Amino acid sequence: MAAPRNGILSWLIVAVAAAVTASGVDALGVNWGTMSTRRLPPKVVARLLTDNGFKKVKIFDADERTMQGLAGTGIETMVAVPNDLLAAVGGDYGRAREWVKDNVTRYAFDGGVNIRLVAVGNEPFLKAYNGSFDKVTVPALRNVQRALDEAGHGAAVKATVPVNADVYDSPASNPVPSAGRFRDDVAGVMAEMCRFLNRSGAPLTVNIYPFLSLYYGGDGFPLDYAFFDGGGGAGRSTIRAVVDDQINYTNVFDANFDTLVSALRRIGFGHLPVVVGEVGWPTDGDRRATPALAERFYAGLLRRIAAGRGTPLRPRARIEAYLFGLLDEDAKSVAPGNFERHWGIFTFDGRPKFPLDLRLHGGAAAAATMPAPARGVEYLPRRWCVLSPRAGGDYDDDDAWQARLADSVGYACARADCTALGYGCSCGALDAAGNASYAFNAYYQAQGQVEAACDFQGLAVVVDKDASRGACNFSVQVVGSAAPVAAAVTPVRTAAGLAAALALVLL
Ligand SMILES: *[C@@H]1O[C@H](CO)[C@@H](O)[C@H](O)[C@H]1NC(C)=O
Ligand SMILES: *[C@@H]1O[C@H](CO)[C@@H](O)[C@H](O)[C@H]1NC(C)=O
Ligand SMILES: *[C@@H]1O[C@H](CO)[C@@H](O)[C@H](O)[C@H]1NC(C)=O
Ligand SMILES: *[C@@H]1O[C@H](CO)[C@@H](O)[C@H](O)[C@H]1NC(C)=O
Ligand SMILES: *[C@@H]1O[C@H](CO)[C@@H](O)[C@H](O)[C@H]1NC(C)=O
Ligand SMILES: *[C@@H]1O[C@H](CO)[C@@H](O)[C@H](O)[C@H]1NC(C)=O
Repeated sequence: MAAPRNGILSWLIVAVAAAVTASGVDALGVNWGTMSTRRLPPKVVARLLTDNGFKKVKIFDADERTMQGLAGTGIETMVAVPNDLLAAVGGDYGRAREWVKDNVTRYAFDGGVNIRLVAVGNEPFLKAYNGSFDKVTVPALRNVQRALDEAGHGAAVKATVPVNADVYDSPASNPVPSAGRFRDDVAGVMAEMCRFLNRSGAPLTVNIYPFLSLYYGGDGFPLDYAFFDGGGGAGRSTIRAVVDDQINYTNVFDANFDTLVSALRRIGFGHLPVVVGEVGWPTDGDRRATPALAERFYAGLLRRIAAGRGTPLRPRARIEAYLFGLLDEDAKSVAPGNFERHWGIFTFDGRPKFPLDLRLHGGAAAAATMPAPARGVEYLPRRWCVLSPRAGGDYDDDDAWQARLADSVGYACARADCTALGYGCSCGALDAAGNASYAFNAYYQAQGQVEAACDFQGLAVVVDKDASRGACNFSVQVVGSAAPVAAAVTPVRTAAGLAAALALVLL
């Protein structure tokens, strides 16, 4: 419903569109999650996206604040119907129509939000959900697409379902990608869904995590197999390839993706377009979640996307992917692991962590540059809550004091993010007093620096000297953060749900 534009402007738009297509950045998107106690204003985030050349974004709902941030940017947006609405939307067409009216039609105006995809659910067939969404997802998909069609959005906006890679597997007897097939309990629903997606012209969306393959693969997983460089440098492959018929797989991403392609072929949909809904590498919370390894992973992934090359089974199909994710989210569930809160290519406050070739220049590593930081970020005052020096004296033998300290640290870490304190993590080298200070500060900042949040039974004190040490950052809260989000809305990505990644790993 764009208003008519004048000649020069539309010429410019065509020219820009052509340039964008030529450089391939249209293949690159990013996930913007908001499970955080430290949220930047949506307009600041939207500008971070445009400053770094992102043309696509995926969000996990259709939150009004987020949508207002995206309005007018032209960024192609994937909005989502959360899992807890699937039963209602699948069971009642009127409910689907309401959702589309409220969350798609409402933003369909010149200067609104450029919605292109609607994710119906998020990994609804995850093993950990015990089949709770198996019967409602496809009906919800149908209803949403029908509502989009009837509201006149159907040509531009398609409904899809992002699935976890645990919907497919290779049998233990023949663990190669070509043996890929859908899990028995979801094979029927996947076939029904693919038939519908094929008819509506929508892609299937799948989330693929080489980091999790490594994490759950244990010592049997060769580290280099998680990356795209065959063990460092072209032609110097140091890893034993997984040999599958005529194809040698040297990275788990390709093997995983092609296992899906094989599963699709088996049910007659070998040509169904596939979009990678989430792919990335975390930078903290585990000894292998580091900025250096994340840089290596993204360098390979982005070089591949820039080259326009697909996987061995679909060599000419350029990989279209949404990076996971944009910013760190300190309120995510850590059930799968402490790394969950550190998936951002930017810190929570929009500072880049490592160089990336986001413009997809391709070629040598030199193409990677430090992404542009968020502009206009406002912080609360520069002050920190730490263990009081008086309290830090010679109390080693004072059991009551030690108990009080342990209690307080436990309280803080149950309510704020202490995942950087673990072994091999950015703050893993702190002593016990440093640990306590880190925990107190995390809680104090999450509570918006209110005075009462820096007491801890008299053990804590507010200071104005930066308590950070090296890579261990004692952060300061940003202005405008929403109240802490309820744990109840935190989707799980459980170990059980990730067994698929593991199975694929041990090829
Ligand atoms: C639209 O999306 C928002 C955010 O996800 C949700 O709260 C709201 O209930 C949705 N509207 C309808 C009518 O379902
Ligand atoms: C799935 O089943 C397991 C084992 O029966 C149970 O522990 C878990 O809470 C269930 N999860 C859901 C989402 O129902
Ligand atoms: C997929 O859709 C095309 C038309 O778009 C159709 O020709 C084809 O038969 C469909 N494939 C299957 C397996 O249904
Ligand atoms: C795959 O690797 C094997 C050795 O593991 C080698 O003999 C074969 O030539 C390779 N095939 C291709 C297509 O590179
Ligand atoms: C600091 O805290 C982490 C995480 O709670 C813990 O694993 C570590 O042992 C603590 N270090 C000291 C010296 O107390
Ligand atoms: C720590 O984070 C703050 C923002 O919270 C930032 O200004 C500062 O540069 C960071 N320090 C380090 C060492 O990264």
